[in-house]
Amino acid sequence: MTILVTGGTGSLGRPTVELLRAAGNDVRVFSRTRGPGRVTGNLTSGEGLAEALDGVHTVLHLATSAASGKDAAQTRRLLDASLAAGVAHFVYISIVGVDVNPYPYYRIKFACERAISESGIPHTILRATQFHSFLAMLVSAQRRFPFILAADIPVQPIAGEEVAARLVELVGAAPAGAVPDIGGPEQLRLLDAIATLQAAAGTHKRVWALPLAGRTIRAFRSGTHMPGLPGFGRETFAEYVQRVVR
Ligand SMILES: NC(=O)c1ccc[n+]([C@@H]2O[C@H](COP(=O)([O-])OP(=O)(O)OC[C@H]3O[C@@H](n4cnc5c(N)ncnc54)[C@H](OP(=O)(O)O)[C@@H]3O)[C@@H](O)[C@H]2O)c1
Repeated sequence: MTILVTGGTGSLGRPTVELLRAAGNDVRVFSRTRGPGRVTGNLTSGEGLAEALDGVHTVLHLATSAASGKDAAQTRRLLDASLAAGVAHFVYISIVGVDVNPYPYYRIKFACERAISESGIPHTILRATQFHSFLAMLVSAQRRFPFILAADIPVQPIAGEEVAARLVELVGAAPAGAVPDIGGPEQLRLLDAIATLQAAAGTHKRVWALPLAGRTIRAFRSGTHMPGLPGFGRETFAEYVQRVVR
């Protein structure tokens, strides 16, 4: 079975592609840059899409342009090209709570979900919580500052590799529409996760909890981005930190 993976070079895409290939699938990675096993193109312009989709059975759409806000237009472009190419299964990764949390990126992800549901292409949509690596990135992105800024919200992070494994199962199964949300094995405060990271890295920066107010922060504080316990994932955040931060 030939699978086209958008975002196959990203943090979720890399372990997913590795698992799909290990399972014997013919995997094409759609990327803006050249490399082995990749087909080049761009989801914003649509360049390279028709050629990349030729003979493809399943599309696994993991690409995101996050802050740029282009995801909805890119997803619609990919859906149109997939319909034209006769794709049999369209699999999408979304985020827990995108239907109820007004955070701008989540609204865009929800628009992508709706476009997929209304496209007529047999599809599967999986919503996951924040990856462990994403929490670590929130801190590493501030490495040049003498302090760390963060929101005081609860999180239920999951290992990206566990999301990848679930996606591989879904790609190998029949289209199932919206499947149950997945998250990690524990709920913790983001500020405590940051403390765990600092302890492992041997840093002692002051952490400032941002004084945020409004509907978005209320949605995060009330936990609309967490699917509840027991979680699907097995690896705790502390175990991830031990594995990765040395
Ligand atoms: N990070 C999280 O905690 C989290 C949690 C739940 C769900 N998700 C979802 O998981 C997905 C993957 O997230 P990630 O953190 O792995 O993303 P990432 O590491 O930022 O990777 C983004 C990917 O998108 C591709 N891309 C960006 N613009 C493109 C364009 N114009 N044309 C073609 N490809 C383009 C990039 O490919 P090239 O640079 O090779 O072109 C790259 O592989 C996203 O849909 C995200 O919303 C993430």
